Amino acid sequence: MSKTIIITGGAGFIGSHVVRLFVNKYPEYKIINLDALTYAGNLENLRDIENAPNYFFEKADILNADQLERIFVLHNPDGVIHLAAESHVDRSIHSPLDFVYTNVIGTVNLLNTAKHFWKDNMGGKRFYHVSTDEVYGALGDTGFFTEETKYDPHSPYSASKASSDHFVRAYHDTYGLPVVVSNCSNNYGPNHFPEKLIPLFINNVINKKPLPVYGDGLYTRDWLFVKDHARAIDLIFHQGKTGDTYNIGGFNEWKNIDLVKLLCKLMDERLGNPAGTSEQLITYIKDRPGHDRRYAIDAGKISKELGWKPSVTFEEGLAQTIDWYFQNTEWLHHVTSGEYQQYYQKQYDKTS
Ligand code: NAD
Ligand code: TYD
Repeated sequence: MSKTIIITGGAGFIGSHVVRLFVNKYPEYKIINLDALTYAGNLENLRDIENAPNYFFEKADILNADQLERIFVLHNPDGVIHLAAESHVDRSIHSPLDFVYTNVIGTVNLLNTAKHFWKDNMGGKRFYHVSTDEVYGALGDTGFFTEETKYDPHSPYSASKASSDHFVRAYHDTYGLPVVVSNCSNNYGPNHFPEKLIPLFINNVINKKPLPVYGDGLYTRDWLFVKDHARAIDLIFHQGKTGDTYNIGGFNEWKNIDLVKLLCKLMDERLGNPAGTSEQLITYIKDRPGHDRRYAIDAGKISKELGWKPSVTFEEGLAQTIDWYFQNTEWLHHVTSGEYQQYYQKQYDKTS
């Protein structure tokens, strides 16, 4: 059956993988990528599918209700997959209001537009909100986040995502909007903007720059290959239960310092360096304020109900990621010139 789906944030890291998957897998669907092209949005991420007959791009800001209305009227969507957001914790510490505007108010604008546009017939419609495990706060050495874990966000980023999640569920309970929500662990893979740990450290190893590890380096994250997240989003969009939440994770916990050492080893092999070369770049720096100690996801529900599981091991995914950065130096050069340099100075001035 044909569908028209608006994917917000489709020019970003995860969004571009979701757009590519849907455009290629569902030639009978019309896929509209709605993106404001902030520093994190890059149409170069979608060069391979930009001429596909079922792909459309709309440059628009989710803060602008008139633009959203125009795009809904023009395309008449059956579904929205909402990924547009400010997504980096460190930037949220510098500029929390940007996160309130885009993540909270932008999401409410989009909910209002969908509610208004679908008000006479919600049948067959779906508003899918893509969120993060960071809304659940921090774990100690044991335990996992389940769909029932109480929200306890600590960073302005996670507080803004938690707020947006609450609004999405409120629109379901109050107005009957057919929503579904997922909360995913840390993603990694091709097209990841080099402000996040893995792509930042790949770029710094290539440029022989210090690898700035926050605090004692013993913080733990659960890492998932981005294409496996996109596969989960496909399943949830088509088969998830309306009003439900699904946690998505990689069953793959790493302490930051162990991950960084593995990355250094793989990079040295790739560069033909003697063992131990890149590890010498590791530099411990001041901790991130409010730094969550450990995230770990129980992805049992999506696994049992929808039959999803990750398709690649961490070592395979990481090797594919490193290869992608070596093969896409022009992409890396484009995204690290301009504003990136100012951000880098501000965030890491003691180490750069
Ligand atoms: P990203 O920063 O790479 O991309 C965000 C995209 O949103 C960009 O293309 C940007 O141009 C667009 N955007 C930002 N503000 C906008 C606005 N006002 N109007 C329209 N478009 C706007 O983010 P990402 O890492 O791909 O994350 C996508 C979503 O997934 C976010 O909602 C994030 O919270 C969530 N998420 C991310 C991760 C992760 O590890 N990266 C994990 C779990 C959930
Ligand atoms: P990040 O990729 O920013 O994702 P998140 O904060 O959303 O989990 O960071 C992953 C982990 O790596 C987190 O514990 C913070 C740490 N980190 C560093 O030690 N140094 C860095 O330069 C960055 C960006 C992150």
